[in-house]
Amino acid sequence: MSDTTPNSGPAKGFLARHAILERSPTLLLVSSLLVVSIGGIVEIAPLFWLENTIEEVEGVRPYSPLELAGRDIYIREGCYVCHSQMIRPMRDEVERYGHYSLAAESMYDHPHQWGSKRTGPDLARVGGKYSDDWHVDHLVRPQSVVPESIMPGYAYLLDTRVNAEYTADLVATHRFVGVPYTDEMIEVAASDVIAQADPDTDAYDDLLERYPGAQIRNFDGQPGVSEMDALIAYMQMLGTTVDFSTFTPDASR
Ligand code: HEC
Repeated sequence: MSDTTPNSGPAKGFLARHAILERSPTLLLVSSLLVVSIGGIVEIAPLFWLENTIEEVEGVRPYSPLELAGRDIYIREGCYVCHSQMIRPMRDEVERYGHYSLAAESMYDHPHQWGSKRTGPDLARVGGKYSDDWHVDHLVRPQSVVPESIMPGYAYLLDTRVNAEYTADLVATHRFVGVPYTDEMIEVAASDVIAQADPDTDAYDDLLERYPGAQIRNFDGQPGVSEMDALIAYMQMLGTTVDFSTFTPDASR
């Protein structure tokens, strides 16, 4: 190859040096990597110094131990395979499911349950939409309340107990990955599991102080704390922590 093309004269000055790069594949590759890395660093590095990339929103709190146990069952049973938990800011979604999901609403989710498949509806704001009895019927045999449903039944959740000690370990594990549970919360986690499913609990006020807005009742209507109690406690709090009648997004962040 010569340094001239048929219709133009040789490039002059500074630009002519570019020919050196263009003629050496190795040099071109190394320089491209260098340029791309600078771009990457400029985008990524600030994230290490920002204290928080999530706008804090009033009302969002870590899961109570019973809710966390329910969330664990949700993951174990693969509910996320058919359900998303992420309302996108598009009109059809907001009209169907409610206010679009905020980053803060999944800040204590490890791992997040946004999902990408909607065989069934989005569940991000299903809390309070149905009664506990409806959930029990639906989880035992979905077709009993929605005849055309293709959702499988989970009747055995009524007969399986929640292991309170395991749940306390689960709470401790979540602190390990950054959820701000206190020593006290971990210490009483096992008894909080039992207290939240018992409307006559002595720990009513303490539980509410630790987990504001927690719903305390016998979710499945049977004695004892079943996995059904835990899963319904989780379903009923989904999307209920933020009060959207007073929430205004902070556009400055
Ligand atoms: C095979 C896919 C599939 C799986 C797995 C599945 N679901 Fe569903 N789910 C559906 C479908 C389809 C619907 C809509 C029909 C109905 O209400 O049953 C639905 C509806 C629901 C609803 C009602 C939502 C609403 O807004 O009306 C809830 C709550 C729910 N599922 C919870 C769960 C939970 C909890 C699990 C795991 C234990 C689960 N689902 C597993 C397919 C699934």
